[in-house]
Amino acid sequence: MTPTAPDIVVTRRPPGDVLARLADAGTLYVWEDDRPMPPELLRQQLAAASGLYCMLTDPIDAALLDAAPSLRVVSTMAVGVDNIDLAACTARRIPVGHTPGVLTETTADLAFALLLAAARRIVEGVDYVRAGRWQRWEPDALPGHDVHGTVLGIIGLGRIGRAVARRAAGFGMTVWYHSRSPHPDVESDLGVVRKSLDTLLAGSDHVVVTVALTDETRHIIDADALATMKPTATLVNVSRGGTVDQEALRVALERGEIAAAGLDVTDPEPIDHRDPLLRLPNCVVIPHIGSSSWATRVAMADLAGANLLAGLAGEQLPACANPEVYG
Ligand code: DGY
Repeated sequence: MTPTAPDIVVTRRPPGDVLARLADAGTLYVWEDDRPMPPELLRQQLAAASGLYCMLTDPIDAALLDAAPSLRVVSTMAVGVDNIDLAACTARRIPVGHTPGVLTETTADLAFALLLAAARRIVEGVDYVRAGRWQRWEPDALPGHDVHGTVLGIIGLGRIGRAVARRAAGFGMTVWYHSRSPHPDVESDLGVVRKSLDTLLAGSDHVVVTVALTDETRHIIDADALATMKPTATLVNVSRGGTVDQEALRVALERGEIAAAGLDVTDPEPIDHRDPLLRLPNCVVIPHIGSSSWATRVAMADLAGANLLAGLAGEQLPACANPEVYG
């Protein structure tokens, strides 16, 4: 522990100037390393802390909360909260802040970038040029699959799913979605159509996964799902790696059951650089950078700061992942 037990523990230095605002609210402990804060050190530092500002790489479970009896707020610099035991926080009346909204458009941009990159073989093209293999214009050079005018299936129609659907309209795509509950308002606004998972997988030319990772959505894309997709289809995942059975995906890509994949997220993260998936030319893998634009990462850091400060002041969080805590 630091000489004085900190009021606020920050598990990674966030971008922008949010730390200056947090420092006005109490003594800070900031983990300065670029690896995640070791869990045992986090446990020790939280012994007397009121606030925790964490990252999606920190597992926040009941045992950790038990070691932090003074904790009044948890704030993560992410929209996804699958690393946090929300029920355990709610049971201890601890609100959990997260960062919806501010990263929607940036993440949807990246989903489209991955779709285009994978379907149109952009990374293979870059490698081809860099390897000095580009000798002349070829009539059959690296043919991919069209994105414009095709059917896009979106799994999960939350903020990011809807932002992807809006982009698809500009590409003249027909958009189908699959989600637990219907969204009639979005259907009429954006012209999207709800389908069963099987119908969506079988009929879509490309599939984008944006659904949050829960027990229900873990491996929603498994071997059967991949076998249902078209052999010309591209799969894009910008949610969490756990929504896709990665081993099944490798097999499907090798066998040509689907044409290509674009992954911003893997399971685990980071993916082992020797993972066979990374050797497949039809798989584009990037390191969980969906929200990583300069402006958006600062906006996330600021919203996470606002959540933390509100929680410390005993006010309702601007963006709370477990609003039932106020019930
Ligand atoms: C999130 O916020 O959950 C993203 O995955 C990281 O930006």
